[in-house]
Formats: sequence, C-alpha cells, structure tokens
Amino acid sequence: MNTNMKSELLKRMSAGMENPVSGQQLADEYGVSRTAVWKCVKDLENEGYKIGTVRKKGYYLIGSPDLVTGPAIGQHLKTSVYGRTIQYIASCPSTQLIAHEAAQNEAADGTVIIADEQTAGKGRLSRPWSSAAGKGIWMSVIIRPDLPPQQAPQLTLVAAVAIVRAIEECTRVSPSIKWPNDILVNGKKLTGILTELQADPDRVKAIILGIGMNVNQTAEDFPEELETIATSLAIEEGRQISRAELAASVLFHLEQYTGLYVEKGFAPIKLLWEGYADSIGRRIRISTLHETYEAVAHGISEDGRLEVELDDGTIRGIYSADIHIV
Ligand code: BTN
Repeated sequence: MNTNMKSELLKRMSAGMENPVSGQQLADEYGVSRTAVWKCVKDLENEGYKIGTVRKKGYYLIGSPDLVTGPAIGQHLKTSVYGRTIQYIASCPSTQLIAHEAAQNEAADGTVIIADEQTAGKGRLSRPWSSAAGKGIWMSVIIRPDLPPQQAPQLTLVAAVAIVRAIEECTRVSPSIKWPNDILVNGKKLTGILTELQADPDRVKAIILGIGMNVNQTAEDFPEELETIATSLAIEEGRQISRAELAASVLFHLEQYTGLYVEKGFAPIKLLWEGYADSIGRRIRISTLHETYEAVAHGISEDGRLEVELDDGTIRGIYSADIHIV
C-alpha cells in the first residue's frame, strides 16, 4: 500500500458518512485488491484514526489523531513538487542530519524529512531546539534552486514569509518576523528557521531548510528556560491545531513564494518580509559576540543583512546578531 493511496483514502473518507468511499472503487483505481484497501483501513485504525463503515457502501472518517506522517500531510497537500516525497520518522536526533544525508544521495527537490520528536534538535548558532513528541512540526525541506550560494540567505527570508502566510491561513494568530528568521507572536517565539547549505563554489546543490514550529504545547510543556520566551499556536489560539494541515500549508506557501522569488527576484519578497517585520522603523539593541549598541532598523538588503542607522547617521548592514526592540 503506497503513501499516495493512503493519503487519497484519508482525503476521500473526510467527505463524511453521507459519502463513504467504496473499497472496490479505490482498489480498481489503484490496481490493487479489495483486501489491500481493507488492510490499509486497518493500518489507519492502528495509527489512531476512527473509521466508520456504511454496509455495502464503504468507509468514512469519524476522527483523526494529530499525526505528521506522509499520508496525514499528503491528504491536505496542494503542491506539485514540495512534499511529494515525505520521510516520516517517529523519533530521531535531528531531521537536519537525515536531510543532509538524503540530499547527498540525490533526494529530489522538495523532499521533506519530518519527525514527531527530535532528541537533539539543532537551533541557530549551535543552540539546542526543544522538540517534544507530538507537539510541533519538526521538519527539514530539501530545496534545489538554481542559485549562486551567496543568494541562499534570501531563501530563509522567503521561508519566513511562507510560514507566516501558512499560520495566517490555518489560525487567527497574526505573527511577526524578527530578523533574521524568528517568527513571533506577542513577543514570544513560535517558529525558528535554520538554513544550511550544500554548494559548489558557484552553485547551490541543496538548501536544507530546517523549520521548527511550536504548535500544540501548553505553557507547562515548555522547559523552564523557555517558559517566558516561547509560545505555541495552541496557547495563542486557545485550541489544538492540526499539525498535518499546517505542515501542508507551509509546503504550499513555500512552493509558491520560492516560485515567485525564482521568477521575479528578491524585490517582492523583500516588501512582504518588511511588511511582517516587527523592527522596521524602530530603535533596537544589537548584540554581537564583540559589542552591544543601539540603532534604528531601516530594512533588509538583498543579501539578507539588516540595515540600521546609527546615532551619528552612519548606515550599517548587520549580518549576524541578536536584536531586541528597545
Ligand atoms: C532557530 O534557532 O530558531 C532555528 C530552529 C530550527 C529547528 C528545526 S526543527 C527541524 C530541524 N531539525 C533541527 O534539528 N533543527 C531544525
């Protein structure tokens, strides 16, 4: 039973009791036996799906567990390339490591590695990334745009815009972007993006876009050190969110905005990004390894640097730092 057929079965079973899916019809369409379809239904039940039957008519979905498996995401997917190959792992140290290996082994553009739990999730600047089981979207997307390596940071900004759009599509939360690539709501971190690169000197071979989204944690689920600085969509929205639906929406917007970027260049992405950024036009404190100073944020440059104006009027482009609005 392939993932595509399982996704299709889930999708069609969502039409409710009035429109049950005929096992025979699905078997005919996919060229498999009715027993194979029945086994697929049993598999889904073992994974936690509640499935009803209408005698002589077929199956329908009564309830779905909150899973991020290939079929769970696949049933919501509207993309043509991204997420068409999904490798789901229940628990692993970091999806980034698996994605790097897959990219070296010629994994296709848009391949997704997603885990229910990471035991050694990686954040920016070698920080740990808390990735509890069943609570978030911990995924790495392998993308293969035809770009010189110096343009790769722009893809992080494309991803940030796509994720904000997906959150807006699936919830009533209105997030903002904190440079370089944090997505915040009410000043607390909801999502982080880690962009890693495999490249020849003149060409990107693969970008491994690591996306960590806090979705269904309660405040108590966060480790103590994150309690005051992290939040989840469930906390902000006051209800549980379908991780599969949200992941499919992220992949859809990622495909759309990457397409826009490749076709039209960085200008439209820059405008969208700046529209969501919380710091533009505001006074911020900038901390690097060597110094801390204040300046006014003006916008982002083509290469993803934050452009700020110092008190003496000098314009400076910051490549890497932590910033805080003052
Ligand atoms: C950040 O520091 O803000 C970036 C966090 C990125 C976390 C994601 S979760 C999926 C992927 N696998 C990892 O180990 N890290 C990224």
